[in-house]
Amino acid sequence: MINPEEIGELVYLRPLEIQDIGKGWLDWVNNPDTSSELTSIQESKKLTEKDLENYLENSQMPKAKMFAICVKEDDTYIGNARISSIDYNHSKCSYGRFIGNVKYRGKGFGSEVLKLILFHCFLRLKLNRVSTVVFTDNVPSIKSNEKAGMINEGVLRQSIHHKGEFRDVISFAMTRKDFDHIYPSP
Ligand SMILES: CC(C)(COP(=O)(O)OP(=O)(O)OC[C@H]1O[C@@H](n2cnc3c(N)ncnc32)[C@H](O)[C@@H]1OP(=O)(O)O)[C@@H](O)C(=O)NCCC(=O)NCCS
Repeated sequence: MINPEEIGELVYLRPLEIQDIGKGWLDWVNNPDTSSELTSIQESKKLTEKDLENYLENSQMPKAKMFAICVKEDDTYIGNARISSIDYNHSKCSYGRFIGNVKYRGKGFGSEVLKLILFHCFLRLKLNRVSTVVFTDNVPSIKSNEKAGMINEGVLRQSIHHKGEFRDVISFAMTRKDFDHIYPSP
């Protein structure tokens, strides 16, 4: 493993680096397979290397943090995870993730990534609430959020303007109390 920050059974998270832009990140965010599901992408225009450099630069602690998702077995970089809107006053943050390399989808990797993010937010950053929003038709994401114990807090109608249309999202969240109940410490 290279520079791991959170380690699971299948994958680990390491800090995302500028070099990752050319190793998959730029291709993935410009591929409709991934970009059509990303609530953080608003416009239809192609993203450039410079856009992602700025995005990474603006996603640093203390307000955000980006990780590369890597396969434990062979270090293959397969996607990104991002903790954002870190708010220490209210002790909360948001998260997002994608498995960009489609060969690795539907194999449990995304669900494990979510657990690693939750562990990072609650146990390392010591926050009290973690939330996300998911397009209402994104079945794999909805299922993996539910499986990890994220609570469905309802539909926000036409909440995100995405590639020319207003789309509904489901708001999911977990509190530290929920987390301690679902993932009791040994
Ligand atoms: C959403 C995403 C992170 C989920 O990760 P994943 O590794 O593909 O999903 P998992 O293998 O962990 O599966 C999660 C659940 O969804 C189900 N699932 C996976 N792919 C599915 C599909 N195409 N259709 C229906 N259900 C599916 C799995 O069966 C599993 O449910 P189960 O445990 O009840 O069987 C990943 O698919 C992805 O990156 N998609 C594109 C970008 C995206 O949507 N990001 C999230 C934005 S909110």
